[in-house]
Amino acid sequence: MAKKLFIKTYGCQMNVYDSARMADVLAPLGYAKTETPDDADMVIINTCHIREKAAEKVFSELGHWRIRKTEAQARGNDVTIAVAGCVAQAEGEEIHARAPFVDLVVGSQAYHRLPELLARMERQRAAERQRAGTQAAGAQAAGAQAKGQPVIGMGVLDTEFPVESKFDHLPEQVVTPPGPVGFLAIQEGCDKFCTFCVVPYTRGAEYSRPAEAVIAEAGRLIDAGAVELVLLGQNVNAWHGEGPDGVTWSLGRLLRELNDRFAHRHPKLRWRYTTSHPREMDDELIAAHRDVSGLMPFLHLPIQSGSDAVLKAMNRGHRAEDYLRIVEKLRAARPDIALTSDFITGFPGESDRDFEATLRLVRAVGFAQAYSFKYSPRPGTPGSLMPQQVSDAVSTERLHALQALLQEQSAAFNRACVGRSMDVLVERPGRQAGQLLGRSPWMQSVVLNDPTLKIGDFVTVTVTDGHANSLFGELAGASREAA
Ligand code: SAH
Ligand code: SF4
Ligand code: F3S
Repeated sequence: MAKKLFIKTYGCQMNVYDSARMADVLAPLGYAKTETPDDADMVIINTCHIREKAAEKVFSELGHWRIRKTEAQARGNDVTIAVAGCVAQAEGEEIHARAPFVDLVVGSQAYHRLPELLARMERQRAAERQRAGTQAAGAQAAGAQAKGQPVIGMGVLDTEFPVESKFDHLPEQVVTPPGPVGFLAIQEGCDKFCTFCVVPYTRGAEYSRPAEAVIAEAGRLIDAGAVELVLLGQNVNAWHGEGPDGVTWSLGRLLRELNDRFAHRHPKLRWRYTTSHPREMDDELIAAHRDVSGLMPFLHLPIQSGSDAVLKAMNRGHRAEDYLRIVEKLRAARPDIALTSDFITGFPGESDRDFEATLRLVRAVGFAQAYSFKYSPRPGTPGSLMPQQVSDAVSTERLHALQALLQEQSAAFNRACVGRSMDVLVERPGRQAGQLLGRSPWMQSVVLNDPTLKIGDFVTVTVTDGHANSLFGELAGASREAA
């Protein structure tokens, strides 16, 4: 009988990609994915270490699984508990100490070795059962009950950064159907070492997958039904690789080639890429926004702060003015491009004037949407050791002011869409019965209420309402007839 695998994913889209690949790696061992945690034989918690809150979630989630495991063991079964991802990478030993019932800790660079690790775990489990059996027999002979033993896991750990790339060892077939949107990791890791960030430590050095491997995987995802492909990397626009022509391609070139090769597969095939760094936003990539028909008019380009002093302390390697110049070039290439970004408030040394500069930059650019976070000092990063840490009260106050401005901008952006028609890809069920959620070219969520629609449909929608976080729409005339 197939064993059931439940995966809980936290963090960025790279983790979403990794979760799908872990399911692919485990499929040949008889594990089938389940969406219901209650009947899982194995759970993988794929973790994020980016901020303190994200990391703490792991331990509260684990507390829940400890109970499930205890119940299963009482019935003579077991639930295999695995922790993967960036917390596993950064705090493997600590997980083992704080949660000894965890069976497997697998870092983000080692999950292609899951079958080996599971085999090692099974061997340990068998040995443990034998040992417990002998003890229980001894105890019984003495008239005692072997009850109330603490629940234990096998504590198998693999957080190495292997020399060979895990990408060369992942299965070629797409076992987990991607749905209409396929994620494709083309680059991983980071050499930028922003002073607040753990990613260079949890994901290792920048690595680009070869162009041929990317093209082949894009083809497989499209074969499996994806009509929108999102190229992923922590520094995706630092991607470079030798193309089949022997020349080194940049991301701009890769996007052109992918679109040329696959555009005939679907009339509305879409491409996106995330996350980009301002330092890697070269002219070829900007030109791709002008020339590549399937490339969506959307870019997530984190800046973090609008103050040059803070950007310098963050080791971002660019000034506010460089960012504004990139935005100008992008808008010249693709006038309707929507920009989103990430911001941190309360980075060590951030003064009121520095924060004002952030608000000024936000006003100057006009973002379609943005994520903003309070600075969270992460162990091992230079930022955590800097003097002049900003108080939580000040960071919070700045965060609220920034969020109010960003919300205003996204609400204005969405309101400006009311009455317009746009292509929407229907992606998933909405929150209420009968609702479906789609995506506009500009990454807006579009709520649709139409019984003729199904997931995977591409439709032309007229926007009827626009809020800060979503649009509401109905099928435009032609689409309605076709559906
Ligand atoms: N590679 C991307 C994003 C990395 S993490 C980039 O270079 O921009 C996603 C976002 O989390 C970052 O853009 C940053 O805004 C936020 N972040 C990262 N570390 C953080 C920390 N220590 N405290 C608060 N926010 C943080
Ligand atoms: Fe982190 Fe900076 Fe690298 Fe982005 S570029 S992953 S923020 S170190
Ligand atoms: Fe989190 Fe790791 Fe992604 S720390 S944001 S899951 S790279």
